[in-house]
Amino acid sequence: MNDSKLRYGGVSRVLHWGMGLLILWQFLKFFDRINDGEHWVGENLVAWHISIGVLIGVLVVVRIIWALRNQGSRPPAPPPAMLGLLAKAGHLGLYAGMVLLPLTGIAIMVGNGYGLEAFGLQLVAPGTDIPWMATVGGALHSPVAWLLVLMVIGHVGAALWHGLVRKDGVLRRML
Ligand code: HEM
Ligand code: HEM
Repeated sequence: MNDSKLRYGGVSRVLHWGMGLLILWQFLKFFDRINDGEHWVGENLVAWHISIGVLIGVLVVVRIIWALRNQGSRPPAPPPAMLGLLAKAGHLGLYAGMVLLPLTGIAIMVGNGYGLEAFGLQLVAPGTDIPWMATVGGALHSPVAWLLVLMVIGHVGAALWHGLVRKDGVLRRML
């Protein structure tokens, strides 16, 4: 269950792949740009955007606590040290995206007075506008989503390079 120097444990792997899937699902929101979302993807998959986004917000808190608890017992980066630092910075960037998107998404909803509902549960009642919140959320959510897309592409590329070119076990320890 816990991580070891040799591989990520079950909790880390379930969080990684489960959240990975949910985040790829969230990227389908970009399809709203086609015909204002009036198509099968928009009406069926993207309809869950806010619920899944809130779920990701909860899961990322669990994941950060788990990562901190397992600090020092996670698989180390293989040499050279420079690339290890790059990987650390990249992972930190992925975490930043996973924290900022739920926060800015919630800011859009609450800031515009829409309230917040996830999986049928009313978390925040509709109410009065909070203009600064709507402005900050509205300005940041989309750019951060684009940045996260770029980081995920780099991340998957790095994982494939480890698995197919360097064959150094870095991909395997997350499988
Ligand atoms: C990790 C979680 C999330 C990801 C990856 C994500 C991703 C995205 C993406 C890719 C878009 C389309 C942006 C564009 O077309 O330029 C978008 C738009 C939007 N998202 Fe999210 N989102 C997340 C969480 C949330 C949450 C929690 C909420 C609300 C509670 C939310 C509310 C919205 C809204 C209202 C829009 C449309 C407004 C806009 O395009 O600026 N999102 N999101
Ligand atoms: C679907 C394709 C993906 C593949 C093949 C993949 C592969 C991997 C691998 C092999 C590792 C271990 C790296 C190491 O030991 O240094 C890893 C770690 C990590 N991945 Fe992914 N990943 C994917 C998607 C994602 C997504 C969508 C996110 C989040 C946006 C993400 C976030 C992370 C983070 C933060 C780590 C560091 C370990 C942790 O704190 O959980 N990954 N990934």
